[in-house]
Amino acid sequence: MNKSDGFFTHYDDRGAVLYDEMTSSHPTHRLVMRPSILYHLGNVEGLSVLDLASGDGDFLLRLLASGAERAMGADLSPEIVELSTEKLAAAGFAGRSKVVVADASVASAYEGAPFDAILCNFVICYSSSLSMVEGFCRNIAINLKPGGHCVLTNSQGALLSADRELMFTKYGVEYAEIDPVHGRERFSRVYCKFPNSWGTEFHYLDTGLIEQCARAAGLVPERVPVVPTADLAASERWSRADLAELSALVPFQQWILRAPAGAGR
Ligand SMILES: C[S@@+](CC[C@H](N)C(=O)[O-])C[C@H]1O[C@@H](n2cnc3c(N)ncnc32)[C@H](O)[C@@H]1O
Repeated sequence: MNKSDGFFTHYDDRGAVLYDEMTSSHPTHRLVMRPSILYHLGNVEGLSVLDLASGDGDFLLRLLASGAERAMGADLSPEIVELSTEKLAAAGFAGRSKVVVADASVASAYEGAPFDAILCNFVICYSSSLSMVEGFCRNIAINLKPGGHCVLTNSQGALLSADRELMFTKYGVEYAEIDPVHGRERFSRVYCKFPNSWGTEFHYLDTGLIEQCARAAGLVPERVPVVPTADLAASERWSRADLAELSALVPFQQWILRAPAGAGR
């Protein structure tokens, strides 16, 4: 495998354009992860939704177009918040949406809280300490209505070397550890790089840690399978076997975190 020769990792407006281009073109996101997130979130008609680390605003736009009553986004990057706010206004959703600059690993009830449903995808992996993972989980808990649910996706990065090779040669995505670790150690540094040059550094988090922090925050975690979009893939002549291979290969884990009905927060 080639060693990474650098990648674009900043979440500013150029990073947002590259990320948007990657998620709307690369099959890992277009055929596997985006459909899986929406599948597990379920019908949002009439619901209030919060996207923690809302990035380029793609999910906020989709949820509002699918009938969500109100959509709130929060992201650490001011440039990305500005860009997604403009996109939502251009789509006619200014009155039903708001995006704020916020650190989603710090528990804070946002305007309009609590929400019926929350998305928290591809961000908990930036946690470099236990207190950050705890913070993300507490933030979900205090913003979620009793009986509500959150779809959480972790990007683990860790692949066995044969799978890494396959991911690179067949799908053009590089995954590697930055820290020389033996086995998998919590918070060791990992990177991924996609063919369009969008890439990022993040941290290895094991599933037990995430579930432990979710439970400590009062949430009930259910690990759910990654569910790709069979219809779209078939229309693009993907074989079932190739789609199943890619779905099994992506180093992403997904959960539904539920707030117990009637729980006082
Ligand atoms: C890989 S993108 C994921 C975007 C979106 N959740 C999605 O699924 O397409 C990561 C996003 O997390 C944001 N981010 C990183 N750390 C954050 C934090 N502590 N709080 C809020 N946003 C954060 C970045 O600015 C970026 O927009």
